[in-house]
Amino acid sequence: MTVNWIGLCRLDDLPGDGMYAYEVGSKKLAVYLLDGKVYATDNVCTHAFALLTDGWLEDGLVECPLHGAQFDVTTGAVVRGPADCAVPVFETRIRDGLIEVRIDD
Ligand code: FES
Repeated sequence: MTVNWIGLCRLDDLPGDGMYAYEVGSKKLAVYLLDGKVYATDNVCTHAFALLTDGWLEDGLVECPLHGAQFDVTTGAVVRGPADCAVPVFETRIRDGLIEVRIDD
């Protein structure tokens, strides 16, 4: 296994708390900024196909725009169906102001 830290953007470039979509290769990522902390999940809902960043973010939960499943952005856990599988989460870090996400091969 190869550990890869991928730089996404500068923390200062994000306008504030919210969620942001990124693509790294074929992977779609959702990056969440909450009270100065950064989290990342896969951006595709585990129920069917919808981008979580097209939904709503409130109190650390992201709601899918298609059927309303909710996921905890810090753990990926399903909080409300109809999804029944957690969304994958990715470790993040900030180095010299750059947000990086860990995507292992
Ligand atoms: S596609 Fe997300 S809840 Fe159905």
